[in-house]
Amino acid sequence: MSKKLLLKNDHIEGIRYLKTYREHGGYAVLENTFKTMTPDAVLEEVKTSGLRGRGGAGFPTGLKWSFLAKPEGVPRYLVCNADESEPGTFKDRYLMERIPHLLIEGMILSSFALGANTAYIYIRGEYFYIARILEQAIDEAYAAGLLGDNILGSGFNLNLYVQIGAGAYICGEETALLESLEGKRGNPRIKPPFPAIAGLYGCPTVVNNVETIAAVVPILESGGAAYAATGIGKSTGTKLISASGHINKPGVYEIELGLPVETFIYSEEYCGGIRGGRKLKAVVAGGSSVPILPAELILKTAAGEPRLMSYESLGDGGFVSGTMMGSGGFIVMDEDTSIVKNLYTFARFYHHESCGQCSPCREGTGWMEKILHKILDGKGTLQDIDLLWDIQSKIEGKTICPLGEAAAWPVASAIRHFRSEFEAYVQNPDGIKDIKHYYRLENSKVNS
Ligand SMILES: Cc1cc2nc3c(=O)[nH]c(=O)nc-3n(C[C@H](O)[C@H](O)[C@H](O)COP(=O)(O)O)c2cc1C
Ligand code: SF4
Repeated sequence: MSKKLLLKNDHIEGIRYLKTYREHGGYAVLENTFKTMTPDAVLEEVKTSGLRGRGGAGFPTGLKWSFLAKPEGVPRYLVCNADESEPGTFKDRYLMERIPHLLIEGMILSSFALGANTAYIYIRGEYFYIARILEQAIDEAYAAGLLGDNILGSGFNLNLYVQIGAGAYICGEETALLESLEGKRGNPRIKPPFPAIAGLYGCPTVVNNVETIAAVVPILESGGAAYAATGIGKSTGTKLISASGHINKPGVYEIELGLPVETFIYSEEYCGGIRGGRKLKAVVAGGSSVPILPAELILKTAAGEPRLMSYESLGDGGFVSGTMMGSGGFIVMDEDTSIVKNLYTFARFYHHESCGQCSPCREGTGWMEKILHKILDGKGTLQDIDLLWDIQSKIEGKTICPLGEAAAWPVASAIRHFRSEFEAYVQNPDGIKDIKHYYRLENSKVNS
């Protein structure tokens, strides 16, 4: 059995409620921290742990915290990103629904380290029922003196609020989230300044993912060094993975970083293999934005090493033969899957979710959707495949926020690894109805 730090108690009945959470050791870390540690000492432990942000970019959390500006007399904020908008990702939902007090305990500890007396959990509108669960848990925490003034007699004050968004993918981007939290349309801001300098209401702000903040509890429970000793290399600790697609056991799994991808997909402890005994065709390993990889490259690196569930191993080979850990949204596709259809679904999504501020993203996402539709409709040409490639290459690096790249990378990787499928749609429009048969014959050819 793999090591569990976040979900070790998720199976306990009633763990959602304060009484049960405390009976199983909940808030003991908070009590101990207040008695024995200063805010700077907490920051040092988080730095030592090597924890990297679990929202997608994998930025070191301790380093991000150390950038927080601390001007005299100016409030600082901690904002928890519970937007969870990346397609294929549903781990934060699980954590908040099952163990809301773990997130709240993490919010108090993190706010203490940052010197923030006001904190927000920004949650997507579709998670309305989870917002209610969080509010109920926050009420319990206030009543028990775990929130509000002079928490547990420590002299530290924290007010924690839940803010529900209207359900837009772009509001998961941290600066769009802050705009939305301020009551405005969720348009990403130009950076710099980064939120650590000028964030919510122009004040220094740290934005962290739900899982990142929850991980602060086990880090302080056993110490940063012990956390850093789990996982592999610079991928320390455990990671929640949302596993979906053509697997026997979809769900949320906590893995120790460094687990071989093959073990994750095929072992009974995790995904339980491919549905119906079919062959694996491809995997999108970190949510819809990250490059798709064919079976042979997700199971092994280009150098033939077993691919591991870690930031470094998944990224091995760059975008030529590797991918990214991203948010941990692990989407598995079997041999009957149409990569072109799947890409069209993603392209529609990104076109719909573009906020429209930058021309390459606003126009480019629409063009990519249209061309993919044309190809699927049997009216595409070989030049359309080149045009798709050209458009995606002109979005990357030319936009205000990374949604542009999120839209471009799936297109680039699908063409890079599955060009023959695009060509089959173009050259054999009459055979499209019979395309399922074609996939079995021409399964995941790699084009370098
Ligand atoms: C388009 C877009 C959507 C994003 N959606 C989310 C999200 O739903 N949840 C999240 O935690 N981070 C999301 N991010 C990343 C955030 O901008 C930010 O990096 C993250 O919340 C920082 O937290 P972390 O350091 O704990 O990972 C998104 C980024 C982009 C560009
Ligand atoms: S890249 Fe797209 S989503 Fe991001 S700011 Fe520009 S138009 Fe908006």
